[in-house]
Amino acid sequence: MRKQIAAANWKMNLTIQQGEQLLNDIIAKPHDLKSHQLAVFAVPFPYLSMAVQKFAGKSNVFIAAQNCSNKKNGAYTGETSVEILQSVGIQYVVLGHSERREYYLESNQFLAEKLDICLANNMKPIFCCGEPLAIREANTQNEFVAKQLNESLFHLTAEQLQEVVIAYEPIWAIGTGKTASSAQAQEIHAFIRSHIASKYGNTVADSISILYGGSVKANNAVELFSQPDVDGGLVGGASLIAEEFVAIINALK
Ligand code: 13P
Repeated sequence: MRKQIAAANWKMNLTIQQGEQLLNDIIAKPHDLKSHQLAVFAVPFPYLSMAVQKFAGKSNVFIAAQNCSNKKNGAYTGETSVEILQSVGIQYVVLGHSERREYYLESNQFLAEKLDICLANNMKPIFCCGEPLAIREANTQNEFVAKQLNESLFHLTAEQLQEVVIAYEPIWAIGTGKTASSAQAQEIHAFIRSHIASKYGNTVADSISILYGGSVKANNAVELFSQPDVDGGLVGGASLIAEEFVAIINALK
């Protein structure tokens, strides 16, 4: 079975004390990760080491950065390289979140550079894609998402692509309380998988985890995750509440 993943994206929230308390509360609640299931916590940069230590020795739990530099090292003030992240035990990084595309003008081409540097150095990207409301209303979401995949991912080899987790996050559903219906999520996840298959073949496409993001909550996770092409979620607001996120972990297939 493909990896099923519950990924928390804390974004720019919580102090380190609050973050540590949240992780303690999550650890204290019963959750049972099977061998094909992962929990990932994308926490603010200064909390990465704390979070890595919290889960030391626990299998199937990984800490992620929310971004990384497209450069290897050097005079890039304020940036954080893949090498720096790895030196504190990080194995996953979220790339191309719509908030970074919108507020920090990250383009598909720029993200392709970040993917390259991650994959050349064994860092696993969680690559975000997804359309704004106007595109959904014009019913051109498939073309929009295909372009994001083509321009950021489709230069990769099949082996490299299989290291990537894709997160489909419709922008109109992020932080709005408006979730894509499970049928809408399944439809576009299936499209993403078929688009990958058209270039890389079915075996590669079938091995890639595609997460849904956008107002995933404890009360909708089971239905969303039960869709055949939805392999878990990338969760913002609900990942800041221990009971919610544990229920989301427990909703994985
Ligand atoms: P919300 O779950 O708060 O809608 O955020 C989704 C998201 O952007 C996760 O990356």
